[in-house]
Amino acid sequence: MNKKLLSLLVSLVVVVGGLYWVFGLPAVGNPEIPTSPEAIARGEYLYNAAGCNACHQTGDAEGPSGGYEIESPFGGHFVTPNITPDEETGIGGWTGRDFILAIKHGRSPDGGFYWPAFPYRSYMGMSDEEVLDIAAYMVTLSPIASESYQHELPAWQFSWMMSGWNIMADFMEGEPPAVADDPQLQRGAHLARHFSHCGECHTPRNALGISDLSNEFAGQEGVASAPLTPEGLADYSYDDFVYFLEDGFTMNFEQVGGEMLDVIEHTSQLSQEDREALAAFLMRDR
Ligand code: HEC
Ligand code: HEC
Repeated sequence: MNKKLLSLLVSLVVVVGGLYWVFGLPAVGNPEIPTSPEAIARGEYLYNAAGCNACHQTGDAEGPSGGYEIESPFGGHFVTPNITPDEETGIGGWTGRDFILAIKHGRSPDGGFYWPAFPYRSYMGMSDEEVLDIAAYMVTLSPIASESYQHELPAWQFSWMMSGWNIMADFMEGEPPAVADDPQLQRGAHLARHFSHCGECHTPRNALGISDLSNEFAGQEGVASAPLTPEGLADYSYDDFVYFLEDGFTMNFEQVGGEMLDVIEHTSQLSQEDREALAAFLMRDR
């Protein structure tokens, strides 16, 4: 074969391969959504642990029908969608694959990209089984017909840009500190990182909004500057901190404010054992 033609072919393969890498959907299979009462109960617990309602259920809504506005650090705001199983306006008919792609990969059923205002980069550490249990619970919720609003974002922002952003985040966010091989600490790490998503607000981000996991929980300027480290939590005893996660009372005997109150709403629904695991993980020596 002609050398020029060969190099052209090779370049073509590289470009198509690259596009596929950037825009292709991850292969996640299409597992069944479980229907047993046990799976639904596990899913309800995990759904609450992940604080899904903090963003998807607003005001006096009867379910997670969306409409909550989240300010974007790059201008404009996002509006959360309706995630009740309504066929027309919600996620009615979603399959196991759709839930895994959305929650763990930030991808919509048609291959589009979600904005990271949806904390999928934290949720990506859930197991597929955990996501499927959450799905099992979500499909039992009452459908609410409520059209999802459009985000209001600056004209230069397109969600397909998140294809590149996700790849940069994979390379730039770094590794979080290792956690000792202790069941309680491992459970606390899994909950804090991949369910309660404490780092979305308490871990520093770079100018692109990518989390610096090597500085996990060191505080995020302008969002939640409180570091969740033994030094940052020095005013709290372990027991006080476990109570804080239940009732939101700080060491100044004040109810914690702002979005942290929504967080307490979900940590208060955890089992005592899981709140203790969270506290043990965040207060561990490192
Ligand atoms: C911090 C706020 C926040 C939290 C917490 C959150 N979401 Fe979302 N979610 C969003 C935003 C914003 C979008 C829209 C993203 C977009 O349009 O790009 C979204 C989109 C979604 C979608 C896609 C819906 C569609 O119609 O395409 C699903 C499904 C979803 N969220 C489920 C969940 C579940 C399940 C949880 C808990 C495990 C959760 N969300 C927690 C903010 C949040
Ligand atoms: C949605 C953003 C967000 C998330 C997620 C979040 N926090 Fe916060 N957190 C805040 C904000 C904002 C404040 C400051 C609140 C205030 O002004 O009273 C705060 C304050 C705190 C404080 C300081 C309380 C004090 O003594 O004043 C602690 C401790 C804390 N958060 C722990 C956590 C833990 C643990 C998690 C995960 C389970 C978490 N946060 C997840 C936003 C968040």
